[in-house]
Amino acid sequence: MAQQEDVFKKIVSHCKEYGFVFPSSDIYDGLGAVYDYGQNGVELKNNIKQYWWQSMVLLHENIVGIDAAIFMHPTTWKASGHVDAFNDPLIDNRDSKKRYRADVLIEDQMAKYEEKIQKEVEKASKRFGDKFDEAQFRATNERVLENQAKFDNLHNRFQNAMNAEGGVDLEALKQIILDEEIVCPISGTRNWTDVRQFNLMFKTEMGSVADGASTIYLRPETAQGIFVNYMNVQKTGRMKLPFGIAQIGKAFRNEIVARQFIFRMREFEQMEMQFFIQPGTELDWFAKWKETRMKWHQNLGFGAENYRFHDHDKLAHYANAATDIEFRMPFGFKEVEGIHSRTNFDLSQHAKYSNKKIEYFDPERNESYTPYVIETSIGVDRMFLSIMCHSYEEQQLPDGQTRTVLHLPAALAPVKLAVFPLTKKDGMPEKAQEIINDLRFHFNCKYEEKDQIGKRYRRMDAIGCPYCVTVDQQTLVDNTVTLRDRDTMEQHRVAISELRGIIEDKVSITSLLKKML
Ligand code: GAP
Repeated sequence: MAQQEDVFKKIVSHCKEYGFVFPSSDIYDGLGAVYDYGQNGVELKNNIKQYWWQSMVLLHENIVGIDAAIFMHPTTWKASGHVDAFNDPLIDNRDSKKRYRADVLIEDQMAKYEEKIQKEVEKASKRFGDKFDEAQFRATNERVLENQAKFDNLHNRFQNAMNAEGGVDLEALKQIILDEEIVCPISGTRNWTDVRQFNLMFKTEMGSVADGASTIYLRPETAQGIFVNYMNVQKTGRMKLPFGIAQIGKAFRNEIVARQFIFRMREFEQMEMQFFIQPGTELDWFAKWKETRMKWHQNLGFGAENYRFHDHDKLAHYANAATDIEFRMPFGFKEVEGIHSRTNFDLSQHAKYSNKKIEYFDPERNESYTPYVIETSIGVDRMFLSIMCHSYEEQQLPDGQTRTVLHLPAALAPVKLAVFPLTKKDGMPEKAQEIINDLRFHFNCKYEEKDQIGKRYRRMDAIGCPYCVTVDQQTLVDNTVTLRDRDTMEQHRVAISELRGIIEDKVSITSLLKKML
């Protein structure tokens, strides 16, 4: 675990050192849980967004996109339930003066029991080798059973507290924290305050105070921009059910426990798609979207074993199914995307609060109804983090050296091709520029002439550039170059005229999308 934490720290520094992610307002020592994307980060982020957008809008004839404003009429958030219920249960430690999410403290405690069980299983697996029967071991080992019982008991109490009638039972949450003897990680004490609810929406004011300014919110999710535009899109696009509306945009949450770098931010970006369907078909569509979205993730080639579904025990009162797609980060399996069957809750609420009819006339059924919705909702920043974590490697080379390499999927890499003149003379820089001038219209290229070739390769490995080309004396004679592959480090000689054909297909989002079909 400590080793994994070290790796994570290295990834965070790597992101800064190589222009992927900087703390916001860095010269003023940053702003908590807010980050800026640098010259390489923004390219990677744009490629992720393009991969998502095209997989939704290009691959589905019945999905269209929109770009709604961040500011919305304040009643939107009353109708959606965010004003009354978008809360986190918070608890303070009186000694350290630190504030925590009570539910997160309890979930961490559950994870500790799970870790203890896992350690026992791993130890026994090593000891017994091929003869190890994990199921039997879990069913009989005393320490495993003891920790499993503690986990189950805690899980039950936690679920009951979170799902209590009339809202979360704050006293029960505090009692769990006391009974489990959970201590503050800073002060090490159990001197806790009561648990209180805290709304996560940022507020601001629109208009001058003299005009009678109104309180508005920075949207905590992009989804509501889609719901309030349902009728506009359905009518103007003459859309027939089932159909979807996709959107990518910023969302804001005043997260109290903001940690793990860009995993939990106060300003972040979401890619959401609301799929409008006939009531009664929602569980079939839910299953279809689970499958489609998992395929989109696994299409990146990171290995199926690094993903899992986590079905929600606690369903929001309007949802009838919900799951998360979790990815194995260095700090454990964590949610990257949510898929929710939201019934007709949002559209009905907006109809009620706006006093407008929000319905669909179904010519096949010859009746009007409020459509049901399946939502897929993924955080761009979490996706970015999962890709960075999986791609980062400190590789031992046969010659005893190490190199830091990002094995980014070529289609997502910020730079696709780097072109180096071997030396700065004999017309090599000009030849290298010529190659770039020809290829820059097809994919992102970079020219580098500083330092020895070996160092230039290392710099390109560190930003995940899949291909490097070197122009040398021979190039001037026969118009061939050496092409080096980032992952294998193999080099071979190819004609300049062949470069585009070799590289373009491998680095294009289109080739990634074709694998989805
Ligand atoms: N419209 C549904 C919705 O917003 P959510 O589970 O709260 O659902 C969806 O958020 C996704 O947005 C998450 O799976 C995560 O990837 C991302 N996300 C949520 N809060 C975030 C935060 N504070 N920082 C970064 N990403 C976040």
